[in-house]
Amino acid sequence: MSRGGAFLVAIDGPAGAGKSTVSRRVAERLGFAMVDTGAIYRTVAWAAVRDGIAFDDDAGLAGLLGRIRIEFRPRPGGGQLVFLDGADVSAAIRTPEISRAASSVSARQVVRDGLLELQRRLARGAGKGAVLEGRDIGTVVFPDAEAKFFVTARPDVRAARRHAELSARGDAITLAEVLADQNQRDKDDMERAIAPLRPADDAVVVDTSDLSMDEVVDRIVGEVESRLASGTLRG
Ligand code: DC
Repeated sequence: MSRGGAFLVAIDGPAGAGKSTVSRRVAERLGFAMVDTGAIYRTVAWAAVRDGIAFDDDAGLAGLLGRIRIEFRPRPGGGQLVFLDGADVSAAIRTPEISRAASSVSARQVVRDGLLELQRRLARGAGKGAVLEGRDIGTVVFPDAEAKFFVTARPDVRAARRHAELSARGDAITLAEVLADQNQRDKDDMERAIAPLRPADDAVVVDTSDLSMDEVVDRIVGEVESRLASGTLRG
């Protein structure tokens, strides 16, 4: 699977494990590009809602994938913005409604197949390396990634983090609702027939429940740096 020599770091795991923050900081520390694949699924879900396409309408979803253009652009001050056909949808795709919709559309083979090439292209264009964050990067999208991590945390810890994030944004959702939503999404993501959420056999599992963000980032960056160094020795 050619990807222009980029060193690929796959960071998979369930919602609320801290993947997004960790992935962004790992990418910054390493000077690698960042590909948030969940944002891609969310953008497709947002477009399906906008266009009134049912989440199980495979023909409708295929048509949608053929006519939309999803891009990442740098966010002034750090991070990334997601654009759909030239319009910034970064905030619109982060609502609980779109979280549920993304879980539904991501279970459709037509959507997974349709987004595979986009994810690979973004990684190939990354220069020296890329951090890809998602659910099936190490198992399906890049089974030959140089470093794979499965970042997870206990369900109560994940729900509390997500609740704090939503509350800070002014969302009135309760912790119980967040936990119920999360349990449903975990179940759907893990039990779906296509590309279910599971650690790759060669992934390093990192449980973030009792670790600080700094500790998690240090552990991942340390592992990547040692693989980069041994790659250099081999090469
Ligand atoms: O990481 P996230 O919460 O932004 O992901 C949104 C949804 O997309 C989530 O339900 C799982 C799905 N997803 C996926 O199936 N495969 C990926 N590589 C990334 C996300």
